[in-house]
Amino acid sequence: MAERIAVIGGDGIGPEVTEQARRIVDRAAQIAQRSLEWEECPYGADYYLEHGVGIEPGRFDDFREHYAAILFGAVGDPRVPDMAHGRELLLGARFQLDLYINLRPIKLLDPRLCPLKDKGVDDVDFVIFRENTEGGYVGVGGAVRPGTIHEVAQQTFVYTRRGVERIIRSAFEFAQRDGRKSVCMTDKANAMRQGHELWQRTFREVASEYPKIESFHLYVDVAAMELVRCPERFDVIVTENLFGDILSDLGASLQGGLGTAASGNIHPGRCSLFEPVHGSAPDLVGTGRANPMAAIMSGAILLDHLGMSGAARTVEQAVIDQLASGEVTPDLGGNLNCVQVGDQILARLG
Ligand code: NAD
Ligand code: IPM
Ligand code: MN
Repeated sequence: MAERIAVIGGDGIGPEVTEQARRIVDRAAQIAQRSLEWEECPYGADYYLEHGVGIEPGRFDDFREHYAAILFGAVGDPRVPDMAHGRELLLGARFQLDLYINLRPIKLLDPRLCPLKDKGVDDVDFVIFRENTEGGYVGVGGAVRPGTIHEVAQQTFVYTRRGVERIIRSAFEFAQRDGRKSVCMTDKANAMRQGHELWQRTFREVASEYPKIESFHLYVDVAAMELVRCPERFDVIVTENLFGDILSDLGASLQGGLGTAASGNIHPGRCSLFEPVHGSAPDLVGTGRANPMAAIMSGAILLDHLGMSGAARTVEQAVIDQLASGEVTPDLGGNLNCVQVGDQILARLG
């Protein structure tokens, strides 16, 4: 039976990069003798401006029950300056589908892409486990007397023992499964005592169950410095939502920029969402300059999620070979456009 995948291109360059990822994932699955059924969904700023909602009520229940995965592009449009539709769509998916693992692998796929002096492909290879359902993203807070000099704005970070424990455990389980040496937890427990003491205690407890995996802690400011100074220290990083967001863009730059950085928003065994780390890149819309590799590599994580690891490795290898050929988009120093890169990677699948 065909597995159903929803495609949400979203805004800006989202639809064009997603289209390349869709073709390539479809072909890789076909080679693996699995059949995928694609359903294009119209959500994004246009839909929101027309209907007044980001997505129909109940649609996430439909995804959870009837779809294997969602392939997502990006949200962000100047016509919706408060990003209301983006929160409804992307944060809505993360929260309503309980996609608690934001998996963001950082791997230098070609030595020429690293901005750091004397670092090579063996030095930049780690995976960020970003907690994806709590922290500052829960929308707890409010504003009083907005627009006056007496304005008060409050935004609360929320952590639960269950939420913290499950992401930390996922990081250790991954480290064990993937033969990784260490897990680093990064927080700001020196300043944010109440919330991050829970992270520290839970990390120590879960780490003690994995004695073969080295565990260490860094405050997030130091972690940011160390990622640039010495990325080879890192194998697996587990952290709360906002810090994971920030560190993953930093990580993206270590491997060649946002045009290459992929992610999965995952609840193991359930309908999950796969998207590039980058946004809608309004500066690139209509230029053909968007690099589809981040979306394509997100498609590889999707294939892994559906149990097609052979197909996932084939897609990754095709991207690595494409990078090696130097036939790339302008962000990586080439002069191909989005569709041309997609065509060539597709051709490499055979
Ligand atoms: P962005 O990621 O869209 O762009 C940052 C920079 O990276 C830009 O210079 C852009 O040209 C470049 N870039 C991004 N993707 C690229 C690609 N595939 N190929 C080549 N270059 C690429 O971040 P931004 O400009 O801060 O945000 C634009 C909009 O996207 C905002 O509305 C923001 O909120 C939203 N956003 C959405 C997501 C998401 O949907 N997951 C993620 C980040 C930002
Ligand atoms: C990301 C994005 C989102 C986030 C925004 C668009 C809400 O930056 O997926 O990294 O902060 O999670
Ligand atoms: Mn981000």
